[in-house]
Amino acid sequence: MRYRRGVALAGVPLSRADETMHVATIGSTGSGKSTALRALMHDALARGDRQVVADPEGTALGAFFAEGDIILNPFDARCARWDVLSEIERPSDFAFVASSLLPHLGQGDHDQWISYAQQLLAGALENFWTLKLGSSDDFIEMLGCAKLGELRQLCIGTPAARYFEEGGERMLASIMGTMAPAIGNLRHMAGRGGEPFSLRAWVRGGSGSLWMPYAANETAALRGLISCWMNIAIFETLSLASSRERRIWFQIDEMDALGRIEGLTNALARLRKFGGCVALGFQSYAQLRQVYGDGAETIIENCGNLLLLRSGLSDDGGTAKLASQLIGSREVERQDINRTRSRGRYLTRSMSMQTRRAVEDVVLPSEIMQLPDRAGFVKRAGSPDWVRVRFPYGDFSS
Ligand SMILES: Nc1ncnc2c1ncn2[C@@H]1O[C@H](COP(=O)(O)OP(=O)(O)OP(=O)(O)O)[C@@H](O)[C@H]1O
Ligand SMILES: [Mg+2]
Repeated sequence: MRYRRGVALAGVPLSRADETMHVATIGSTGSGKSTALRALMHDALARGDRQVVADPEGTALGAFFAEGDIILNPFDARCARWDVLSEIERPSDFAFVASSLLPHLGQGDHDQWISYAQQLLAGALENFWTLKLGSSDDFIEMLGCAKLGELRQLCIGTPAARYFEEGGERMLASIMGTMAPAIGNLRHMAGRGGEPFSLRAWVRGGSGSLWMPYAANETAALRGLISCWMNIAIFETLSLASSRERRIWFQIDEMDALGRIEGLTNALARLRKFGGCVALGFQSYAQLRQVYGDGAETIIENCGNLLLLRSGLSDDGGTAKLASQLIGSREVERQDINRTRSRGRYLTRSMSMQTRRAVEDVVLPSEIMQLPDRAGFVKRAGSPDWVRVRFPYGDFSS
């Protein structure tokens, strides 16, 4: 059977159960993260798995694009017409779509403002959708250009109405400022032709791959949209019927360059039942923490399959230390001979022998810092052992 073919991480075969325990590849630039993720993608595609890919520089898209695949990037002529309103299927979706568009940042004070802005966006969506006031383009136009009076009208009867009460002008201005990036992101998608495209419908019934390619100079403009799209796709997967056969991969290389994917931390633990497999690549733990705060730890803990590659000297060698800790320590018995001298009134010398248990790093941080390109350590979810790996460069462009 096709789906029984396996996938490998840096040459190490993963079991069927390993796959849904997610994959993280960690290493500094040039260490081989993208190469390993592409090889994994190659195996998954060869047996017909579906995937959603945040694709830096569109490298994977260039290698694996197939007829019928969907591309989302407003600066690419092949971009599908993503339609924010078509992601809304029932009233509980207003808050979900708003939080996907405007994720929390994990910073106490600012998160409060983000919550207000989410509520305003959700309120506007609610009335616009319920009263059928127009298309997604009309909605985006209205949010971007509406006078405050119009926006107040739009939020009547929703929890966001209270932000328009008299005397609250300064607060409203701050909320609008917080909401501005989300509106900017939506505007990138406005004015496109073609059939409306819904990520949720694609997750339920689509086929092939969903590509989100972005060039380095598009990162600032697209990081918010890509994180939003990824969040919607991941959540929709959680609402499918549970399945042991299904595989949908979420490939997120250079995760630290993207914005926060609001529900990722929680979703990792739940995706397994639905056949969702997340494969992440990032450069340093410090950068991951900048985006996810304490959630960074949860993310790493929830990735059962790890590929640790060369880690840089940056952030005080923190990532190399973390890698060394993850690989673990072993207890070794060592005989220590202590010589003591005490200088009192008389010079005395003594010697004692004792057996001491010392914990030593199996792989020292310094070794991780010095690994060559495309060499490192793999841990599979289903095995306690670490495997030393070296893997070739494969660009898969045929
Ligand atoms: N076109 C190429 N032909 C042959 N080898 C290459 C090519 N591109 C990269 N490599 C080799 O593969 C290694 C890993 O590259 P890869 O792009 O996977 O690194 P990375 O960890 O994703 O880095 P970055 O963080 O910069 O994206 C490089 O250091 C280089 O040795
Ligand atoms: Mg890369």
